[in-house]
Amino acid sequence: MTRVAPTISLLMLALVSLNALHQVEGTCSLHPETKFLIHSKRIVTPNGMIAGTAVEVSEGKIVSISVNDGDLNADLLPILDFENCVIMPGLIDVHTHLNEPGRADWEGFDTGTRAAAAGGLTTLIDMPLNSYPTTVTKETLEMKVQAARNKLYVDVGFWGGLTPDNAHNSSALTELLDAGALGLKSFMCPSGINDFPMTDENDIKASLPVLAMYKRPILVHSEVPQPSEEQEFSLEQRRKYSTYLNTRPATWEREAVSKLVNLASDTIVGGSAEGAHIHIVHLSDSGETLNLIKEAKVRGFKLSVETCPHYLSFSVENIPDGDTRFKCAPPLRSEENRKKLWNALINGDIDFLSSDHSPAPPELKLLEAGDFLGAWGGISSLQLVLPITWTHAKENGVPLEVISKWWSSMPAKFANLQNKGSIEVGKDADFVVWDPETSFDVNEDFQIFHKHKITPYSGSRLFGRVIATFVRGQMVYHEGHHALSPCGRPILASVTENSVGHHFI
Ligand SMILES: *[C@@H]1O[C@H](CO)[C@@H](O)[C@H](O)[C@H]1NC(C)=O
Ligand SMILES: [Zn+2]
Repeated sequence: MTRVAPTISLLMLALVSLNALHQVEGTCSLHPETKFLIHSKRIVTPNGMIAGTAVEVSEGKIVSISVNDGDLNADLLPILDFENCVIMPGLIDVHTHLNEPGRADWEGFDTGTRAAAAGGLTTLIDMPLNSYPTTVTKETLEMKVQAARNKLYVDVGFWGGLTPDNAHNSSALTELLDAGALGLKSFMCPSGINDFPMTDENDIKASLPVLAMYKRPILVHSEVPQPSEEQEFSLEQRRKYSTYLNTRPATWEREAVSKLVNLASDTIVGGSAEGAHIHIVHLSDSGETLNLIKEAKVRGFKLSVETCPHYLSFSVENIPDGDTRFKCAPPLRSEENRKKLWNALINGDIDFLSSDHSPAPPELKLLEAGDFLGAWGGISSLQLVLPITWTHAKENGVPLEVISKWWSSMPAKFANLQNKGSIEVGKDADFVVWDPETSFDVNEDFQIFHKHKITPYSGSRLFGRVIATFVRGQMVYHEGHHALSPCGRPILASVTENSVGHHFI
């Protein structure tokens, strides 16, 4: 096979195309073509990583995949050649807090989705809080979609909120799901947001028959507060992470999950809530709580679980006194717990990853006082989740295909995003192009696109530089530059006669 000549011509074409970037006015793509081939030596597909592959993109969809350069339609189509870089399906984060409308000063659609694009994420699903109002009715979902208009650099779907106010009113839930909420989210402990009250197991149970009809999931913040003695802490004590950790022991998670497992028993085939699906967000406890989840899965309950990069990166032993950037709930736990979480993820006991990107203005983190009890809980990380995951995965010998499963195919399946999550003919041309071998430091020279730059990953050296991001065939990000206008779309669930699908508006 004569590989040399085609490879050279691919490269030349690629250089021409890439140099022409950033000059395309009035479009939301950094390259002008709507039909093109994207090529590299490492493309991650459901059949593994294929070398020398090219993917043909037309009108935002993947229309063919060729394995041999000789098969390429190279005379007819422009080629973007990324040589030795990895091309993977764009990452999908099912747990992001963008906080708009109402708290756009915490993040907002513009900066949140720019940061996502710069991090190789092509789809986000926004949480019903901490926007104001919270997304708990048809009307507030419509307000959120309206607020997102012309601000999205990547595609964004929305979870609706389940609270005691709508949980027992099936017509209210039906309206919210008909309006396009991809599923519901609730808290089993106070959420910290006044217009998002917590639910108990009876509230959640009441929602399951409605969710079952729509085949959409309920995502639950799984901590149930346990009685404890009221205690006064000195500022010195409040500056210790361990003081905060002791206020939210693993028994809170265990108690919540044990209640959810009971509810999930109705989701088995033939059960009263067959079709419903209970999802445990951001698992932190890799002990007894994880065992309950494993047992429930063995019994055929429709139950899934995610964890987040911060639980896999940090442990209480390494958190400096007063450094409230690390505060989140459930809390970060011991080093031993962290290692067990990794094993659970690698073994498949944890289904996938999410960011739980939950930024807040620096003032609310009380950084000066360093007061862990008073600070707002929430870790900012969205733009960095790919390199964070990869840096640890590399050490653990986890291949790129598995990263892609954790961040694309499994989340797509969970959220029923049928057009997304893998590089396959017919799917949306959502790609991240990145270089896993290059490392960078999260320092002043590294450009964070989030509204607020504080993150506990500052000072880290991470592997994996994102080169370019494509959303439905449009190059929305390339080497530090974003497209001139945003071309992300809201994703709203739609009900068709025979199945539940999704449409874009
Ligand atoms: C239930 O929800 C519907 C639709 O939002 C609303 O019109 C109705 O007043 C609610 N019922 C109760 C008892 O809150
Ligand atoms: Zn969250």
